[in-house]
Amino acid sequence: MKKFYVTTPIYYVNDIPHIGHAYTTISADVMARFRRLSGMRVFFLTGTDEHGQKVEKSASSMNITPKELADRVVVRFKELWKTLNISNDDFIRTTEDRHIRAVTELWQRVARRGDIYLGEYEDWYCTPCESFLTESQLADGRCPDCGREVERLREPSYFFRLSRYEKPLLEYIENNPEFIQPDNRRNEIISFIRQGLKDLSISRTSFSWGIPVPGDPRHVMYVWFDALTNYLTADGWPDRKGFWPADLHLIGKDILRFHAIYWPAFLMSAGIELPRKVFAHGWWTVEGEKMSKSRGNVVDPFRMAEEFGTDQFRYFLLREVPFGLDGDFSVRALKGRINGELANELGNLLSRTVSMILRYHGGAVPEPTPSRLRAELEKKVMALVDVGSDESVYRDMATAMDRVAFHDALSSVWRAIREMNIFVDRARPWSEKDEHTRANILYTLAEGLRIIALYLYPFMPSSSERIWQTLGLKESIEEVEKDPHADISTTARWGGLASGIKVKKTGPLFPRVQ
Ligand code: ME8
Ligand code: MG
Repeated sequence: MKKFYVTTPIYYVNDIPHIGHAYTTISADVMARFRRLSGMRVFFLTGTDEHGQKVEKSASSMNITPKELADRVVVRFKELWKTLNISNDDFIRTTEDRHIRAVTELWQRVARRGDIYLGEYEDWYCTPCESFLTESQLADGRCPDCGREVERLREPSYFFRLSRYEKPLLEYIENNPEFIQPDNRRNEIISFIRQGLKDLSISRTSFSWGIPVPGDPRHVMYVWFDALTNYLTADGWPDRKGFWPADLHLIGKDILRFHAIYWPAFLMSAGIELPRKVFAHGWWTVEGEKMSKSRGNVVDPFRMAEEFGTDQFRYFLLREVPFGLDGDFSVRALKGRINGELANELGNLLSRTVSMILRYHGGAVPEPTPSRLRAELEKKVMALVDVGSDESVYRDMATAMDRVAFHDALSSVWRAIREMNIFVDRARPWSEKDEHTRANILYTLAEGLRIIALYLYPFMPSSSERIWQTLGLKESIEEVEKDPHADISTTARWGGLASGIKVKKTGPLFPRVQ
């Protein structure tokens, strides 16, 4: 059985979760559910990054210990993932024993390779980014990434021989074009490496909230050395062989350098296989502005889910912006997609189908008559929807998912939904006199919706389940997702819907919003 290992960044606990964190985690959830549905064994990991100067500072400003801060904030993250219907298989906290053991082991392996030496760091540090910066990297004396003030550091430090990995990294990235995506980000990384890699400071002495350096506990490890290792820890490394290498590290573009340069270099040094793909998505602004606490425009994902619905919010985030590009969040755009695509196109199709089955067939899914199928009408829908057909939208969807192009995957499914809407208008079941022909039309609609619900399930799990319940199906899609012997290639075959089951009248799948 094929395996799939997908991760999100582990989020800092100095901040409460917002739309940006929700975005990455929802995208990972969609990927995880999609792979499970297609019959893979999946490990989906998320968690929290709890050490470092930034967390220590936040905690001390609140007069609590960093661990108390972490314990508080981690609850918010876990609650959010529940609210957003996130199906992560594990949740890692970097303060856990299993993690401290793994990081210590990784450090020792890298040290045994001769890649760690003691020196002195003298340069700049950006605490919000937890990144070391040279004079020439600064932009007008500030952090080039976040634009905030940097501080001067001068302290003894252990260094990682990053310079040694300049050539191997370049070679690897050039020979593996899929490793860093999208391509424009990959090119940025290549030119960054070409400018030359200096050794990296990987320990600090001026604060203490971190994992002690083995053999020299006056130093704590650099928080990024600690944090990146989470992807190995949660997989059971070094004690057991699990899902590693990760198939997909999903991250925002802000932390690409750490994942595309430092992380592979640490792994190369320790003799560990590299992850298959690092995909950096774009940045959300809000109503055209940068999101920040001081502007007071931080989008609260709890509120969005409560006000508009979890699935509506999930759908919007992945449909609105091509994955990889920056995007702008506005409530207006969200409402537009809810009323348009979700309510008018999908919700309406379901309610029309159900009310006609109730009116003309006493609520029982009709028996189709193959000999009466009209090639130009039913067959077009079947060809687009049936997973086994050459023209199936599922093929496009699956290719899009391989490219991590969630927006394209959704547009592919929507081609089938639009075709079904055209089909109802042309086939006009309400004025059809022939009983067999009408039965065929209504079966086509019900069966089309059953299969479309399967395709949409990774994006909108509860609405998809509701489509199945409305059609009278006893099984749930979650069973297909979880059952290692059931997968989409058989479940989404045309004809799987049994005639005679009773549809249910329910309220609108996606209520309109004002
Ligand atoms: O960087 N738009 O954690 P973090 C899109 N602990 N995505 C956004 C976003 C926005 N406006 N704001 C945040 C860290 N994100 C480290 C990671 S991993 C080993 C350690 C998302 O809490 C995006 O995924 O600052 C980004 O990469 C991440 O949150 C940063 O989260
Ligand atoms: Mg950040």
